[in-house]
This record gives sequence, structure tokens and C-alpha cells, in this order.
Amino acid sequence: MMLVYAKIDSLQEKLTSFKSNISVGFVPTMGALHQGHLSLIEEAKKNNDIVVVSIFVNPTQFDKKEDLDNYPITMDSDIAMLEDIGCDIVFAPTANEMYTDGLKSEHFDFGGIEYEMEGAFREGHFDGVGTVVKRLFEIVKPHTSYFGEKDFQQLQIIKALVKVENMNIRIVGCPIYRELDGLAMSSRNARLTVAHRKAAPFIRKTLIMAQQKFGTENAPSVLKWVTDSFEKHPLLTLEYFSIADVETLKPIVQRVQNHEYRGFIAVKAGKIRLIDNIEL
Ligand code: PAJ
Repeated sequence: MMLVYAKIDSLQEKLTSFKSNISVGFVPTMGALHQGHLSLIEEAKKNNDIVVVSIFVNPTQFDKKEDLDNYPITMDSDIAMLEDIGCDIVFAPTANEMYTDGLKSEHFDFGGIEYEMEGAFREGHFDGVGTVVKRLFEIVKPHTSYFGEKDFQQLQIIKALVKVENMNIRIVGCPIYRELDGLAMSSRNARLTVAHRKAAPFIRKTLIMAQQKFGTENAPSVLKWVTDSFEKHPLLTLEYFSIADVETLKPIVQRVQNHEYRGFIAVKAGKIRLIDNIEL
């Protein structure tokens, strides 16, 4: 039987009742669950005795009120999906429960990766993510926590978070789960218009072409090709495309041996902002 808690106290009462050798795997989410989330939970189930999933739409990580107000909430079907997949414990707190001192973020120094890409385009985003995930980690005290490479920068931020906060939690990155047409699964996909949904796989197709080009062309030429491709597209607007070092997340200056690079993209499809990335 899956247990659902809204209160920190009652969740912790349950968690402390487990023997100390029980391994706890944790998957934080904002709900509106899809197969991408479930793939993280499957991974957690494989390697832990108990799996905890949190559902909390964290207000402090949204830079636009409209995005927060329109974020999909599907609690009943989320709970049903989690029960189905064999999740043990769900933690679904209110904002008051998580933020007793008001909706403020702590400011973090993650060594610079917080200022690139999503950090540059969404002000305060990673302070909000850091604040809520730190709090969730303190509450749940997991041994291992799972994050999707869909939000690759977030994954790197969380790895930095446990280092700067000296938390003994293993962070595991999981591959991007996609629709059959290549679109990365996202809770926001449900909000795309029919036309934008049809157009959206262009993002993945362009990333695959960029990956191929990066084999034979230099970074500026690939960047230009991607920019030009989106300029010609009637429905999708490119916010950024960056070829960046996976460790620093800084845009490539010159290819260096033994460094790994990834292509990172953010695109506006009407009012909806979509992100994706690819190994290069
Ligand atoms: P959310 O967008 O709900 O995502 C929860 C987790 O699922 C994240 O680790 C995300 O990378 C992963 N995920 C989402 N779509 C995925 C996909 N298509 N394939 C693989 N993994 C996918 O990310 C957040 O929530 C929040 O920022 C959170 C970490 C919960 C903090 O509020």
C-alpha cells in the first residue's frame, strides 16, 4: 500500500520507523507525471528498498507568474500512476508546509554553472531549485536521488548542491525519455497547441543534425546552422543553442581533447518554452 503524506512531521515519523540499513531512493517532481518521471522511479526501485516521490510545484523556481499559474496539476492521476508503478511513499506538501518563512530562496554559489543557459534566461531559477531540493533532501534524507538528463543543467546543479552543502547523497542522472516522434517528454507538452505539438519534434531533429555536423565542422559553423534553421521555421523560435562543456556548462571556445560537450537548446513554441539537449 502506497502512503501519501502532506505533512513533514508525519512523513518523517514514517521514515524514522525504518531500520537504518534500509536504502531510500528519492525522486523529486512537480507532478503532472509522465513516462519520463516514471523512468526515474523505475531506476530508483531497482536499486533501493524504499522509493519516495515528492510532488510539489515549487513557486520560487518560476521566474514568470504566468508559467507558475498555468503549470499543469493532475494530482489524482499522478497518485494513481505512482500506486500502479509501485512507489512506496508520496510526499505532496503545500507551499506553507515547505516555506514557513515565506516564499524566499536561499542564494547559492555553484561555481558559475548557475549563470549559464537556464540560469541566464530564467532569473533566480536555480536558487529556487537549490532551495527546494536542499529542503526536500533534509526532510527525506535519501541515500540516492534521481534526476533526468532532460534538465541536464539542473542535474549538474544538484551534484554541486550536495557538494557545497556536504550532503551524503548519491545523485544519479537518468537518460531523456522521449515521445515516439523524438520530442522529449515534459509536463509542459500538454499545453502545446495542436500545431505547435506537431512542429515540436523539429527540435530533436535539429539536435541530431547538429550532432552529426559537429563530427566534421567547427562549433561556430554548427551554431550558425542551428540558428538559421530556426529562423526559417514558421512556428518555433530559438531562445538559445549552446555547445558547452558538460562540466563548466560554458560555451565551447575551442574543442579540447578529453572534454565532453553537449548541445543545449531552449525554444519557444507559442507560449510554451521547451528545452532539450544532446551528447556531442
Ligand atoms: P519536473 O520537471 O517535474 O521533473 C522531475 C524530474 O523528472 C527531473 O529530474 C527531470 O529532469 C525529470 N524528467 C522530466 N522529464 C523527463 C524526461 N523526458 N526524461 C527523463 N527525465 C525527465 O525538475 C523538476 O521537476 C523540478 O525542478 C524539481 C527538481 C522537482 C525541483 O522543484
